[in-house]
Amino acid sequence: MLSLKRIIMGLIVIVAVIQLIPVTRTNPAEPDPIVFTNPQAEALAKRACYACHANTNAWDWYAYVAPVSWIYVDHVNEGRQALNFSDIAASIANSGEGGESGEGIPTHSHAEEENEGNGSEAGSVGGQGSAAELIDEVAEHMQNGEMPPSYFYLTHYADATLTSEEQTILVQGMRDALAGR
Ligand code: HEC
Repeated sequence: MLSLKRIIMGLIVIVAVIQLIPVTRTNPAEPDPIVFTNPQAEALAKRACYACHANTNAWDWYAYVAPVSWIYVDHVNEGRQALNFSDIAASIANSGEGGESGEGIPTHSHAEEENEGNGSEAGSVGGQGSAAELIDEVAEHMQNGEMPPSYFYLTHYADATLTSEEQTILVQGMRDALAGR
């Protein structure tokens, strides 16, 4: 008969063995870091967003423990791709596409073709992105309570919690920092 003791021993062995699967936690260089002019906005972003949206994040201890580490690394990679305070140029380029899925899926390639045609006038057509679009996404995601993600509150409750004033400061801080981009 399978005793509880055996089941627990088995789980311990499994957890020990999966630790051997390599996980790549990177902190790459910062190609184009945002330069905040408002230190309060900078502090808020660092507190609530940098864990997943910058190349300078400190990895929590559980980033080193499988299977949590697999999910963790995945989210940081996805987070950096969506918005990276260490690579603003790429974030601007990525903004406006892929955001809320479902709106106008088939128009995507058309929009890109049009953008190629009239160069600088790209703006909000989609695909190309702009600083304004990026900042709107940030504001929207915070207002909807989508960002920071709910699971982040489990381990970083105080860091994650932003009052609506703090959200406004962060958004305005990004506007100031990215003015002219
Ligand atoms: C614990 C990790 C984590 C934290 C902390 C976090 N995010 Fe995210 N964020 C993600 C992940 C993963 C994605 C990509 C998947 C998705 O859209 O849900 C994402 C996506 C986004 C997007 C979507 C961009 C797009 O292309 O639509 C925005 C905007 C964003 N985050 C803003 C923020 C802001 C602002 C903060 C801080 C207030 C924050 N996030 C904190 C993990 C995080």
